[in-house]
Amino acid sequence: MSFLSQTLSRVKPSPTIAMSNKAAALKAAGHDIIGLSAGEPDFDTPDHIRAAGIAAIEAGHTRYTQVDGIPELKQAICAKFARDNGLEYTPAQVTVGTGGKQVLYNALMATLNPGDEVIIPAPYWVSYPDMVLLAGGQPVFIEARLENAFRITPGQLEAAITRNTKWFLFNSPSNPTGAGYTWDELKALTDVLMRHPHVHVLTDDMYEHLAYDDFAFCTPAQVEPGLYDRTLTVNGVSKAYCMTGWRIGYAAGPEPLIAAIRKVQSQSTSNPCSISQWAAVAALNGPQDFIAEHNKAFARRRNLVVDALNAIPGITCPRPEGAFYVYPSIAGLIGKRTPDGTVIDSDETFATALLEARGVAVVFGAAFGLSPCFRISYATSDAQLTEACKRIGDFCAELV
Ligand SMILES: Cc1ncc(COP(=O)(O)O)c(C=O)c1O
Repeated sequence: MSFLSQTLSRVKPSPTIAMSNKAAALKAAGHDIIGLSAGEPDFDTPDHIRAAGIAAIEAGHTRYTQVDGIPELKQAICAKFARDNGLEYTPAQVTVGTGGKQVLYNALMATLNPGDEVIIPAPYWVSYPDMVLLAGGQPVFIEARLENAFRITPGQLEAAITRNTKWFLFNSPSNPTGAGYTWDELKALTDVLMRHPHVHVLTDDMYEHLAYDDFAFCTPAQVEPGLYDRTLTVNGVSKAYCMTGWRIGYAAGPEPLIAAIRKVQSQSTSNPCSISQWAAVAALNGPQDFIAEHNKAFARRRNLVVDALNAIPGITCPRPEGAFYVYPSIAGLIGKRTPDGTVIDSDETFATALLEARGVAVVFGAAFGLSPCFRISYATSDAQLTEACKRIGDFCAELV
């Protein structure tokens, strides 16, 4: 009998790790590698937020805090939901965790029983299915197809709902596609959910502020107030405030669910880092104008990458609304051969061959549940992106 738990055997090791390891090994061996796989902004945490972290240390905010967040941060989160999303919450409806990741994990741990289903649009953020499996539930996938700019349709959602559905897990703008749902598109989905009162909504709004052109972000409980009592709205400071390492995420929703999440957290990690919580207060209450500055750079880089990729025969790349990812299809390259005879039979083979031949590290689509595609993170310099796209073009031009 295995020493390891049966639950763990349901979970696969991250398929992205092998690629990252390979890229790191090539780099260590002196190869010129351009990494386009990072899921974080390349900007530093803004100065006023760093200063708030230092001030928190100096002020002695270095002890345990309330398990699910200091009152000052919960207040700042309530103000944020009212300001940005038109959603009114009290501090008792708010939980703070060690990253949005922990909040999502807690929510699933607190609610799933064997047989419970969680509907997840694919491609999805890599952690969703495995978190559901670890919590004892069953992921149910809906394909968000390229033809539909990586959005699911109301009909697909309707067809996926069963009496075992507990959650619909929604993410807009999306990791890995960057696709964002407009108000009308989201309303069409929430209309379906209104017909199924047993289904709850777990919305991951992590990329809320990273939206470009005229795209207006919206979130399910805002679009359909009738869902307020069965929605957990998850967000965090990692992406918009360039605070990935500080590990602060949060959510708001029904009080009994928040209490259940607190219970899970109280028996695992206790409070998120006290210093980071004070820095997050400064992030949410402080000036927000740097976000628009960052977004100018992100929008420019998105256009650079989308235009360069679409100029490569065999690659099709939609222009997404937000986040800092693009998710091009390589359907037009499947079946071709590299000069050394490798047949490009999958997106994993494509990504491996691209890394070995041209030193560009991307993440293959199978990791996110929709093939044949790959994900590029454009949270890096214009020069690196230009060079990477040139190398991808050269690599593809050699395929026969
Ligand atoms: C869609 C999505 N949700 C949640 C997270 C987790 O963010 P964090 O735990 O840093 O708050 C990420 C990070 O990559 C993400 O891409």
